[in-house]
Amino acid sequence: MSAVTTERKGDILVLTANNPPVNALGAAVRQGLEAGIREAAGDASVKAVVIRCEGKTFFAGADITEFGKPMQEPSLPVLVDMIEASEKPVVAAIHGTALGGGFEVALACHYRIAVPSAKFGLPEVKLGILPGAGGTQRLPRLAGVEVALELATKGSPIPAKQAAEYGIVDRMAGEDSLTEDAIAFAGEIAGARPLPVTSEKKVEAQPGTFDAFRKANARKFRGFEAPEEIIQVIESTYDKPYAEGVQRERQGFMKLIMGNQSAAQRHIFFAERKASKIDDVPDDIQLRDIRRVGVIGAGTMGGGISMNFLSAGIPVTIVEMAQEALDRGTGVMRKNYESTAKKGRITSEQVEKAMGLLNPTLDFDALSECDLIIEAVYENMDVKKDIFGRLDKIAKPGAILASNTSYLDINEIAASTSRPEDVLGMHFFSPANVMKLLEVVRGDKTAKDVLATVMALSKKIRKVAVVAGVCHGFIGNRMLMPRQVEANQLLMEGATPSQIDKVHVEFGMPMGPFQMADLAGVDIGWHRDPNRIESIRDQLCAEERWGQKKGAGFYDYDEKRNPSPSPRVMEIIEEWRAKTGTPQHDVTDEEIVERTLYPMVNEGALILEEGKAQRASDIDVVWIYGYGWPVYRGGPMFWADTVGLKTIVEALDKHGFTVSKLLRDKAEKGEKFN
Ligand code: 3HC
Repeated sequence: MSAVTTERKGDILVLTANNPPVNALGAAVRQGLEAGIREAAGDASVKAVVIRCEGKTFFAGADITEFGKPMQEPSLPVLVDMIEASEKPVVAAIHGTALGGGFEVALACHYRIAVPSAKFGLPEVKLGILPGAGGTQRLPRLAGVEVALELATKGSPIPAKQAAEYGIVDRMAGEDSLTEDAIAFAGEIAGARPLPVTSEKKVEAQPGTFDAFRKANARKFRGFEAPEEIIQVIESTYDKPYAEGVQRERQGFMKLIMGNQSAAQRHIFFAERKASKIDDVPDDIQLRDIRRVGVIGAGTMGGGISMNFLSAGIPVTIVEMAQEALDRGTGVMRKNYESTAKKGRITSEQVEKAMGLLNPTLDFDALSECDLIIEAVYENMDVKKDIFGRLDKIAKPGAILASNTSYLDINEIAASTSRPEDVLGMHFFSPANVMKLLEVVRGDKTAKDVLATVMALSKKIRKVAVVAGVCHGFIGNRMLMPRQVEANQLLMEGATPSQIDKVHVEFGMPMGPFQMADLAGVDIGWHRDPNRIESIRDQLCAEERWGQKKGAGFYDYDEKRNPSPSPRVMEIIEEWRAKTGTPQHDVTDEEIVERTLYPMVNEGALILEEGKAQRASDIDVVWIYGYGWPVYRGGPMFWADTVGLKTIVEALDKHGFTVSKLLRDKAEKGEKFN
């Protein structure tokens, strides 16, 4: 079947694209649309054209898989200009998501009709590029500079109703009658002249618009090249002729697409989708039915985990041991929902609907009606084994039993049941209702359908799930460990907490290792004996410098939790340096990178070597979505490729690390991880 078919409906020529799964504008589609426009031009009996798509969506953008390959004619910029130049009116009939190049095709059409559920967006920025088919030119002309800046630099789609308010959508169609409504609309406007040609429209901007926008979004855009390039393109061209503007747009597009940031962001786009695929589990495996979820523990984690399911419309039974803890937990959940509603992100009906799906109880046996039960109590193997032993007795046959442990051995937990095939880890990241990452830990005996069910469910609750094997800390926390060890050692050798954190923040991380320790709690995992002092951290804990919650940790904090370097911490560090006789030297920023970030790559390589991650890109996904690794660096393994594995191995050797065999082999062969 060809990618675009044409059909006559009276005077109207209907062009229908069909390129599953998302109607990306690949070469065959572009050629089909070009042929359709030519056909209309060459046939005097055609009075107007409708462009529509089969399947679940209007064009979701250029075909990203074609990037970096020789471009087949017509290119998208040429095609959109050709559509706009048509002497017969062209109507875009939009359902699903008109994204990127798809939105640009719609913008080039003379009219747009959309179903209420349709969405419009320019997500190119999320791929580190800019709209390269006239989007930076037509959107400001159609909807104004502010709307264009917002959509093009942030990449989030807007609903059809909002698009109509902005003047992007001319007519709303019935949800189930788009094609008929579009044909009728085309009939109505077939004779209207002059045609509305967006590229010829004039647009103005208020003085100071661009700088105000930059300032308001400085934090959000920190480190990213694409948003600033987009602002510059729009700023320098909005009042210039279209032909000049598209030239500047093309220049910006080419610059960005050749850069490392775009390569990294495109890598993550595909990595995220690949992560859901499990090498030895067939795509069509029969999944288990999950109608009700049980959560054990109504603390911060248990509550956050529950909210994911409630928001997705899945009922949750949450179990606690004492009424007070249960009430506190459900109270926090309600407060979280209500504060989201206050920000206008959900309605108060949605709050009630979600909370209405929650069954809080002290009765452990109530879990017997659940199809998936997630244990979220504190990290203690004996406690967890006891819980799983009890679950084994009451859970219904075929129920999936999951632990939210962040370090412990899932195989050992599974062995405390008579059904280890039903057991796996679901490691959520805090705050669990916000963070996108879910590490799904596959035990030695976890059944394939159990794994596949949880991976599919994770998509429903809008998580990005990555499969990890059983090892201490799984993928993410395991890689955090060598970083922490080295950061501590660097303190001993002459660095300060602020210097190390600064290097990490400049690298693009949301915070450095010591800022993170202060946020999470310096006392996490501490032995709790103030007289047993074996490290800088023990000393901090003994002095109750437990981090932000105590107003003191590696930093001092004011009442607004603003940090400042702590003279007392420097004293403690000095004492330890002297006590251990650690030789001192000037620690450079470069050394901090080599000794805290390269060992993470080394640990990632070990994880791959041991088969604890399926692929290097999964590790990248874990670090992007679980720890805020800057997406424009593509995750630690992708970043390592850009640095050069040889460079990394040489530095690791120089600093005396034991280098993973896989990493060394790849470096020697000149190979990459991704
Ligand atoms: N090009 C090529 N493949 C694409 C694609 C695209 N633009 N968009 C999605 N795909 C592929 C995915 O890789 C995936 O492939 P797989 O099944 O082999 O893993 C498949 O289509 C389905 O995608 P999703 O799993 O993401 O499906 P969802 O239903 O969850 O989401 C979507 C659909 C909202 C359209 C989402 O796929 C999406 O956001 N796509 C990207 C949109 C985008 O970035 N467009 C801009 C492209 S750049 C551009 O247009 C440049 C222009 O300005 C010149």
